Amino acid sequence: MKRNAVYPGTFDPITNGHQDLVRRAAGIFDQVIVAIAANSNKTPMFSLDKRVDLARRVLSDLSNVTVQGYSGLTVEFARQHQGSVIVRGLRAVSDFEFEFQLANMSRHLDRNFETVFLTPQEQFTFISSSLVREIAVLGGDVRQFVHPIVEAELKKMRRT
Ligand SMILES: Nc1ncnc2c1ncn2[C@@H]1O[C@H](COP(=O)(O)OP(=O)(O)OP(=O)(O)O)[C@@H](O)[C@H]1O
Ligand SMILES: [Mg+2]
Repeated sequence: MKRNAVYPGTFDPITNGHQDLVRRAAGIFDQVIVAIAANSNKTPMFSLDKRVDLARRVLSDLSNVTVQGYSGLTVEFARQHQGSVIVRGLRAVSDFEFEFQLANMSRHLDRNFETVFLTPQEQFTFISSSLVREIAVLGGDVRQFVHPIVEAELKKMRRT
């Protein structure tokens, strides 16, 4: 049986931490869908189209990875795409509480769902999209944290 996974998030923008996780997931599952949430309770810096476009370009070398935008419930999206496994990342203990709650809620909404947690390589554990955005807005160097394509896009945002 084919094993598909859905990796949901805001990806505003995609970071090297996200990328590290997608590459790990691509090595484990047959197909990985990076599902970018239109979202919700955050006010994203980048439009959904832009976030999808950036993720597609950054992950273009991975043949079993696709990127799609979605709105609505993640479990619903996963169901529609035959993804019975949701991938999420754990950077530190601070992620645990929210992720644990979310995983239990997903399972409550659909008991067939499993959430799999992956951890990134050490050097990516402190990277978050929100910190990257903040550093970029303040004129800091984000080259260590994001793909050059994303860095260029963040620079453009600063000028607008
Ligand atoms: N550097 C990272 N290493 C491992 N997992 C990560 C990393 N950054 C994000 N993730 C995980 O990816 C998933 C989607 O995260 P999300 O899109 O919220 O990114 P984020 O970096 O946490 O952004 P924000 O700071 O805006 O919340 C979550 O499960 C999150 O824990
Ligand atoms: Mg987050």
